[in-house]
Amino acid sequence: MPKATRGAPKRHGLWRIPCRGPAPFGRLGASGTVASLVSASLLDSLLAKLDERAATVAIVGQGYVGLPVAMRCVEVGHRTLGYEVDARRVAMLRAGHSYVGDIPDDQLRAALAGGYTPTDQIGDLAGFDVAVISVPTPLAEGIPDLSFVESASHAVARVLRAGSVVILESTTYPGTTDELVRPILESTGLRAGEDFFLGYSPERIDPGNAMFGFVNTPKVVSGIDADSLRAVDAFFSTLVDKTVPVKSCREAELVKLLENTFRHVNIALVNELAMFADDLGVDIWNAIDAASTKPFGYMRFTPGPGVGGHCLPIDPSYLSWSVKRRSGHPFRFVELANDVNEHMPEYVVRRAQRMLNDRGLAVRGARIVLLGFAYKAGTSDWRESPSVAVADLLAELGADIVACDPYLPASAELPAQTELVEVTAELLAAADLVVLLVDHPEFDPDLVCRSSRLVLDTKGVLRSREFVGETL
Ligand SMILES: NC(=O)c1ccc[n+]([C@@H]2O[C@H](COP(=O)([O-])OP(=O)(O)OC[C@H]3O[C@@H](n4cnc5c(N)ncnc54)[C@H](O)[C@@H]3O)[C@@H](O)[C@H]2O)c1
Repeated sequence: MPKATRGAPKRHGLWRIPCRGPAPFGRLGASGTVASLVSASLLDSLLAKLDERAATVAIVGQGYVGLPVAMRCVEVGHRTLGYEVDARRVAMLRAGHSYVGDIPDDQLRAALAGGYTPTDQIGDLAGFDVAVISVPTPLAEGIPDLSFVESASHAVARVLRAGSVVILESTTYPGTTDELVRPILESTGLRAGEDFFLGYSPERIDPGNAMFGFVNTPKVVSGIDADSLRAVDAFFSTLVDKTVPVKSCREAELVKLLENTFRHVNIALVNELAMFADDLGVDIWNAIDAASTKPFGYMRFTPGPGVGGHCLPIDPSYLSWSVKRRSGHPFRFVELANDVNEHMPEYVVRRAQRMLNDRGLAVRGARIVLLGFAYKAGTSDWRESPSVAVADLLAELGADIVACDPYLPASAELPAQTELVEVTAELLAAADLVVLLVDHPEFDPDLVCRSSRLVLDTKGVLRSREFVGETL
């Protein structure tokens, strides 16, 4: 059943979405201008199309974020186009082969049969009603690189038409939607808020999370004005259980950076504590377990070999960069957290070196098995994974490394000449050291404890078992 998006005003926690009449953004403009009356009728028509599932939705960028959103759009009945510049990816999608871990081939094939069209031709998006931009926002030498958002916006501008809504979903610093995307779209001659609607909605997807997926994770939505907010909210209300409207695109842009910076800083806190606790001869894991019994004012974070993926190593730097640009001040929490987390792979390698040394072994020539190469459990994504840094550092020291990761395809080309192999009792038994880097549920802790001669467990998964080795 389509979710109702019209009728009585909805209360959404933070923001009351106006349906008609006086509104925080001045729905009819200062004087009820012709332009705003035109936008009101365009909005009504867009909302009706969304309600009736007669809208065409274009998801720009078919990666870890864009592909799952496209799949959900098809599921709820929208005609869905997946625009992707990488022609090889488009060919794979068309052939029903998913390259995103959370989307199985079966789901992709059902979507293809149900109205999903992957394309690398921007012309195919002509006449779209909703465009969602989910393209990468990396760092280039520590500075936000918005070139993908820029080129995607130019592409959307080529097919922009009156009455449509454009939503930026890529993670970015406050001001991007208004200062970068809007002028590009308006270069067409169409005006945001009058001829088309514009907003921002951050993605909160957590790859590998079995409890919270796209549908049951509340979605923060925003618009450049009240009508745009209504359009963005109406669209995402067709996809998720709950939307959380906020007052401006800047607020929504900050929400995402705040969430990831919070996580980044807290992981850095326990990582730094883990290093001190080892020096002090204290078991940090026991201390964390005990602290976690406090029913208020504490949230559990655990140490590990560092942070990875497309969010934590990057997003906080978007925030610190924009703070520095606007206020001239450094965002010290982020800089400190970056420093601690970036040095964790070195710390892991130092611990490994010490363990081998205690047994009269050099790292050079040692046979080391890395358990896990993805940046976290349950995902195949190994972008920015701390495992890469650990493998590089061990390779530099002359170790003979193999890696096991059930989520990575056999074809994955790992760095540092690290071979990807299957985990077996024989492999573990032949290793001088096994370093457990990712707590994938597929790794059998009993097998690891029973077969390995020496283990460095960086994720604390073997703590309750007997094994020869150490926990981080
Ligand atoms: N991966 C996550 O867990 C996650 C979670 C929340 C938010 N995000 C954010 O979402 C955004 C997208 O991340 P992702 O992980 O999906 O990236 P991704 O690299 O997996 O996918 C992005 C896709 O966009 C394509 N692309 C690049 N430029 C394009 C253009 N101009 N037009 C069309 N397609 C284009 C790329 O070829 C790629 O396939 C980023 O801003 C990221 O920070 C990611």
